[in-house]
Amino acid sequence: MSEAAPLSFETIVSLCKRRGFVFPSSEIYGGMSGFWDYGPLGVEMKNNIKRLWWKSMVQERDDVVGIDAAIIMNPKVWEASGHVATFTDPMIDCRNCKHRFRADHIEGNVCPDCGARDSFTEARAFNLMFKTHVGPVEDSSNEAYLRPETAQAMFVNFDNVVTSMRRKLPFGIAQMGRSFRNEITPGNFIFRDREFEQMEMEYFCKPAEYKQWHDHWLEQRLAWHKKLGVREANLRIREHAQEELSHYSNGTYDIEYNFGSMGWSELEGIASRTDFDLKAHAAASGKALTYFDEEANEHIVPYVIEPAVGVDRTFLTLLYDAYREEEVRGEKRVFLQLSPLVAPIKVAVLPLSRNEKLSPLAREVSSLLRPHFFTQFDDAQSIGRRYRRQDEIGTPYCVTVDFDSLEDNAVTIRDRDEMQQDRVKVPELVDYLREKLSTDA
Ligand code: GAP
Repeated sequence: MSEAAPLSFETIVSLCKRRGFVFPSSEIYGGMSGFWDYGPLGVEMKNNIKRLWWKSMVQERDDVVGIDAAIIMNPKVWEASGHVATFTDPMIDCRNCKHRFRADHIEGNVCPDCGARDSFTEARAFNLMFKTHVGPVEDSSNEAYLRPETAQAMFVNFDNVVTSMRRKLPFGIAQMGRSFRNEITPGNFIFRDREFEQMEMEYFCKPAEYKQWHDHWLEQRLAWHKKLGVREANLRIREHAQEELSHYSNGTYDIEYNFGSMGWSELEGIASRTDFDLKAHAAASGKALTYFDEEANEHIVPYVIEPAVGVDRTFLTLLYDAYREEEVRGEKRVFLQLSPLVAPIKVAVLPLSRNEKLSPLAREVSSLLRPHFFTQFDDAQSIGRRYRRQDEIGTPYCVTVDFDSLEDNAVTIRDRDEMQQDRVKVPELVDYLREKLSTDA
């Protein structure tokens, strides 16, 4: 890509649709703004991201445990957390074209849709939580909300986890799952959705230690994004100014990614939430949410550091960062330089042609590989087109079975990035690929 033309979201949206990563939700009915469906390759990549997060945040640490809580919680949770009162965005309407915007996204008082000047209504606070009713009667007594963040379940389960798991400070509770926000202006593909997935962890520590843990988690989380393959030059840390801090935070770092066409944007937030949530839930529920500090011989309310990242936003970042175009022998080649950790398919097995002599060995090779790596067998169309297809979905290695293979029991392995080819004996194939695909995760 030339410096002058940043990669457009349309290019990514089109690749995602064409190759089965992401489709507009309910597309045959015209779609639904802010909702997206992950296709066969999208779900693989998304699961890889979630598995890698869980491994690094829960399974590789002895100070963090996981939970999986209900999406609909007692509505009192959202009153105590401050979401009913303050989880709002300022909304304005253009009197000319009737379109609706977030006031803080408008520049120069000009409508971005119709160009009218000074045509906006006064800003009104719009609560972003989706409402529903629990049970057969629809009245205000059984109103409930779809959770707008996964975090609150960790706070209300604090005592359950401390007691059942005999936890000592510092420790964390992690969760990943769906969240819902009735965003006024969803957009930029899956960057801002109305239904999305979050991966969040609440790390409880002694109040005096919160700064040190804030720095620790910032460092850990930055390293995780790099490990998944995001290029360092496209990541930066931005500290929130006092006036943009959420109602619960006394300090927040954002990890931002440089989405060329959209500019630097939040990928992950690492917030210091103080003791706001535990205190608020203790006051509202009447249940003590404290920790007995044996050293100090007193009950304390822990402080909390929260790394919170979206699955969808991580997915978009990885695709955007991996997209490459180059010219090969006068033709444009598009490939995704995804880390094998996140690539939806690790190996493609391609017989040189759809030939009755080649197919049995090619099928045998793909059965050999499948238990070890997610493998795709493809014998449709020319070999060149099949390589291009695998390049475009980021498959790190293609294994080609040709007529020589029938004689020497060896296959050709082509790597996605350099397009170099290696000849490897079939019995050595699993070990060869394991070494190439290994990224220690
Ligand atoms: N518990 C704190 C919290 O929810 P947030 O900054 O509102 O903080 C955390 O959300 C992360 O969730 C964001 O950094 C982003 O990656 C993701 N996220 C938030 N809103 C989103 C949306 N509407 N669509 C997609 N991802 C979103």
